[in-house]
Amino acid sequence: MGAQISNSTEVRQSAILGLGVYRPQRVVSNDEICETIDSTDEWIQSRSGIKNRRFAGEDESVLAMAIASGRKALEASGISAEQIGAVVVATSTYPSQTPQCSAVVADALGTGGPAAFDVTAGCAGFCYALSIASDMVRLGTEDYILVIGVERMSDSTEPTDRAVRFIFGDGAGAVVVGPSDVTGIGPVVWGSDGSQSQAIRQEPDWLTFAKDPSQRPWIKMEGTAVFRWAAFEMGKVATQALERAGVAMEDLGAFIPHQANGRINEVIARSIKLPESVPVSDDIAETGNTSAASIPLAMEEVIRTGKAKPGELALLVGFGAGLSYAGQVVTLPPLAQD
Ligand code: UT7
Repeated sequence: MGAQISNSTEVRQSAILGLGVYRPQRVVSNDEICETIDSTDEWIQSRSGIKNRRFAGEDESVLAMAIASGRKALEASGISAEQIGAVVVATSTYPSQTPQCSAVVADALGTGGPAAFDVTAGCAGFCYALSIASDMVRLGTEDYILVIGVERMSDSTEPTDRAVRFIFGDGAGAVVVGPSDVTGIGPVVWGSDGSQSQAIRQEPDWLTFAKDPSQRPWIKMEGTAVFRWAAFEMGKVATQALERAGVAMEDLGAFIPHQANGRINEVIARSIKLPESVPVSDDIAETGNTSAASIPLAMEEVIRTGKAKPGELALLVGFGAGLSYAGQVVTLPPLAQD
């Protein structure tokens, strides 16, 4: 036998050490959205649970929001920028395909040239990135990893498209993942159903746009198909994530599903028979659906409002384009002070 590769076989535990978010300044009401789509405040609230969302301004780029949330996550965790060994950004709305957002964020935050890559898994992106970061820490690949979910959905939704315009919003949320004496991030349950990949899509693709620039790309969504898939399948994902973590539903401090639609979350909670005593995040009413940013923003909402406290267990379930999903149980982290 030839030379052997040596690598660590030690596995340690990981946890979320701190959370920081960025919410754009401008609040956009349903009435304002209805200036460009044929709809009503009443319809939007009853079908989705959304009252307001934030739309980012000119100085609130994907990059600027990612940096702002990342800085707050570092502060909340007590980890310095130089200690960060990898930056992972989950996003579908960074305006350049190259370079990746994460490398620019890493530089702006003053980290010392860490590994940097973006993850694209639609609204499940944050939970995917969190799982990858957790495994990197567990195997000793890196000690501290900055995970950011960030979106400017207002750039990608056609102002006159009544199937999507009202549902999406902008924002960013970030966490620092690091080693821990006790398990702070449970096993992930994840997957995809590419046979339904057209249910949430960019249309047209960039090459088609290059040939015919009169049709700029937008996000299109078959909302009812996505609703049915999520309402039927995500309860199973939630139950499996709890089972794999060995956590009983009664032991949860919060259920934090992706903020896609308040009604989907009610259906999931009912389907898994979530006890009344477990609070469900309801960030969608004021934030809308911020895709890959929604789970960290919703995590901040449950902690800020006192529904759950740092140190308590929370079940995360992200789902969306792909159609892809990822869920895991985590210990809630401390929040950056504003
Ligand atoms: O985050 C990524 C994952 N995304 C999701 O999970 C989104 C999942 N889907 C949804 O949340 C819902 O499908 C929506 C909130 C987007 C739409 O709600 P829906 O109950 O599925 O509405 P629908 O598309 O089935 O439309 C119902 C009715 C239709 O009218 P008729 O045929 O019953 O007369 C639509 O034409 O509502 C009409 N409609 C609207 N009316 C007012 C559709 N869009 C609107 C609108 N305002 N914006």
